Amino acid sequence: MIHGSLFSAASDVSGVSRDCALRVGLIGAGVVGSGTGQVLARNADLIAQRAGRPIRLVMATARNLLKAAQVLGPDVVLVGDPLTLVRHPDIDVVVEVMGGVTLAKTLVMEAIAHGKHVVTANKALLAEHGSEIFAAADARGVIVAYEGAVAVSIPIIKSLREGLAANRILEVVGIVNGTTNFILTQMQEAGLSFESALNLATELGYAEADPTLDVSGMDAAHKTALLACLAFGADVPFDQVHVQGIASLDPFEMVCAQALGYRIKLLGMARQKTDALEVRVHPALVPEKHLLAHVQGSMNGIWVNADAAGPTFHYGAGAGSQTTASAVVADLMDVARQGSVGMSARVPHRSVPSELIRSWPIMPIGQVVSRHYLRFELGGRPDLLSCLPRCLQESGVKVQQSAHVQHPEDAMQDAWVVLTSSLSGDVLADKLALLKRSAKGLEPAAVWRVEDLNL
Ligand code: HSE
Repeated sequence: MIHGSLFSAASDVSGVSRDCALRVGLIGAGVVGSGTGQVLARNADLIAQRAGRPIRLVMATARNLLKAAQVLGPDVVLVGDPLTLVRHPDIDVVVEVMGGVTLAKTLVMEAIAHGKHVVTANKALLAEHGSEIFAAADARGVIVAYEGAVAVSIPIIKSLREGLAANRILEVVGIVNGTTNFILTQMQEAGLSFESALNLATELGYAEADPTLDVSGMDAAHKTALLACLAFGADVPFDQVHVQGIASLDPFEMVCAQALGYRIKLLGMARQKTDALEVRVHPALVPEKHLLAHVQGSMNGIWVNADAAGPTFHYGAGAGSQTTASAVVADLMDVARQGSVGMSARVPHRSVPSELIRSWPIMPIGQVVSRHYLRFELGGRPDLLSCLPRCLQESGVKVQQSAHVQHPEDAMQDAWVVLTSSLSGDVLADKLALLKRSAKGLEPAAVWRVEDLNL
């Protein structure tokens, strides 16, 4: 311990007993941890009034303890060994915002084993090990709260688990990664290259410590798997989720999509089919008139279609320090209120009690049916433009819409872009293989799915 006392953070809050404070131990004092400390301190009075008791950050551990001391202030005891924190008898709830999976899992499981509630913003941890963690929490009678793990400032977990609890959820489609949405917006609005936009997102603190997680679509996949589990009461085998990132997109693709009336967004999608779940993350064309097409910058948007409520749209900041802290502290307030009541009086971790969670297979991406966008590079060859429609027709690809698009800056680059009729990815691949064989190697330079959402 480097300074302070466990109880030195106490301050009287009018009408609330100082003896019953919820004592918080924080693992990680980076972007989210420091924001959590700031929100807890700045709004201490109203948090205590609304939660029914004060919530005090009493102990923390971080990779850089000196920096942690600066951001958390002198009243928080700092410990070098996170195991000391998760086992400490004076801690009621552990906030895990360190990220990563291996050490985070050890610490969360140890905290649960020691009867601590856990608040985490760690989507990778829960998407990959949620079943084990929630089972352990249920067995020990503690809460694992994770509102900060998905679309930070949007209370989507509360919405699915409580606000929409009476509904059968039909589909959840969302932009759930702020970094990639920021990059795509910069490419579309400012014509920035992928690399420049990513550098800017990293400077602004949106990206993960390892930005590959954002760019590869993996971060969005973790969040989408959590949403699918909440929406459908299903264990989502994460390794079966189809994930494709945005690294191969460039500003010209945005221009081409726009020529057809669409924007390209990295979508996380979850739908329940008859005998499988559709859970996938990849760039897709979204109609310009759909609300999701207007989620710009680092904002997130989640479209939920439910049988009684109908469509609802949830919008808010998708990344950031205090934006994530908003969710983390709200979870702490839930723990303050519900931590001492019996399990049956609490909202189940994953919408339904663990014993009712079902195992569902994930539909292979090749079987998913949708319209598709194809881009053929013409390279200034008008002969291709005249033969492409016939060649596609002869290969069995039905074209519903098309446009000839000239690159805004490169006179030598133009493209013919089309939207096909609905067909599965596997069927389209067969037809494009036929096209390649029969038309001297002709093939699209890009193929993306079109998500014609119920407007
Ligand atoms: N890197 C994440 C994002 C942070 O950009 O969405 C919030 O989970």
